Amino acid sequence: MNLQGKRILLGVTGGIAAYKSAVLLRLLVKAGADVRVVMTAAAQRFITATTMQALSGQKVWTDLWDEGVPDGMGHIELSRDRDLIVVAPASADFLARLATGLADDLLSTVCAARRAPLFVAPAMNVEMWQNRATRRAVAALRADGVSVVGPDAGEQACGEVGDGRMSEPERILDAIAGFFAPGLLRGRRVLITAGPTEEPIDPVRVITNRSSGRMGYAIAQAACEAGADVTLVSGPVALDSPAGARRVDVRTAEQMFEAVRRHVPDADVFISVAAVADYRPRRMAEQKIKKTEGGGLTLEMVENPDILAHVAAMKGGPLCVGFAAESENLAENAQAKRLRKNVPLIAANLVQEALGAETNAITLYDDAGAHVLGSGAKIELARKLVSHVAEMLATRSATPARGAGS
Ligand code: CTP
Repeated sequence: MNLQGKRILLGVTGGIAAYKSAVLLRLLVKAGADVRVVMTAAAQRFITATTMQALSGQKVWTDLWDEGVPDGMGHIELSRDRDLIVVAPASADFLARLATGLADDLLSTVCAARRAPLFVAPAMNVEMWQNRATRRAVAALRADGVSVVGPDAGEQACGEVGDGRMSEPERILDAIAGFFAPGLLRGRRVLITAGPTEEPIDPVRVITNRSSGRMGYAIAQAACEAGADVTLVSGPVALDSPAGARRVDVRTAEQMFEAVRRHVPDADVFISVAAVADYRPRRMAEQKIKKTEGGGLTLEMVENPDILAHVAAMKGGPLCVGFAAESENLAENAQAKRLRKNVPLIAANLVQEALGAETNAITLYDDAGAHVLGSGAKIELARKLVSHVAEMLATRSATPARGAGS
């Protein structure tokens, strides 16, 4: 990882995860970045400025009224020459103050006066993360263009389990590196479907599947990191939107089809990750279906539109990428699906390994044959998939352009 010459301001707020920011600082410096550290008073209860000074090789800034600042304008000057500000960990209190524009200590003032992009890596107790006030603050920050990295799920310092752990320093470093990456998909518009669909039986019951949406969301994140303009058409999932993606929420396959049709004319790439229900009940009962003692229930199902096949058949349409979730004979079934749906690239995985998990094992199939991406975190695989797509797109651009009468 090379961050040579990149000028980063690392903000540290109060939380037990502050010890991890020392590791992050070490990784950033090792990658060649010039890192200036600003700590809040609460951060210094968890980790000392001396530690951060030794690791960064620079004075650590802690005080809005520091007399060592030549013109007394530290809150402005400290971030002016920076390419990026990263606050890790970002406490619930800090996120709330940031979202409302409060500027009552050095770090919040530096952030309020910033010109550089801002990343925050939240860290807090699971209840605090789920608290409505925190949800509002995070949504407001995202809307203001702040990139939110994590948090991750797992065991917390307080002994509780759930979302709220600060992402590991390596993951934050990846997000920072993604920000500085040359942008494999810069200027490209990518349309992605993700998650399951829900097909209503009656006002309270649906037919759905166990897709968590994680793979599609990871691809949306990787495409954003690569500089693409991303539209994510999402079925019902319990995931936060990747920073920078435009999200369109749908429930049924027909709504997903409609949203894709609306956005596909602008797209250079269409990545169909959603687990679209192949069938839906012919009609939704207007009232809740009552149980009839001893009797069974038969639902008549009709086929849903095949969204991917429809887009793949469009003249001058985008580069299409399909997903094949198979339970057996991966290579054979994936290649057959690729040819049947007429898509240049299929990403295949074994469904029993992928569902709901953070990790996956993917093999890509295209005209050139199989490309094993191996197994790993979904975000890592997503980044590999995005580079493969970027390469295909580059080759495609070298041939006659879209809409040029082909
Ligand atoms: N897909 C789609 N619309 C559908 C069904 C599937 O866009 N109505 C897309 C999925 O997003 C995925 C690919 O098609 O990219 C493969 O989906 P899958 O359900 O695995 O394949 P099917 O064609 O449904 O074949 P089968 O269920 O027989 O495996």
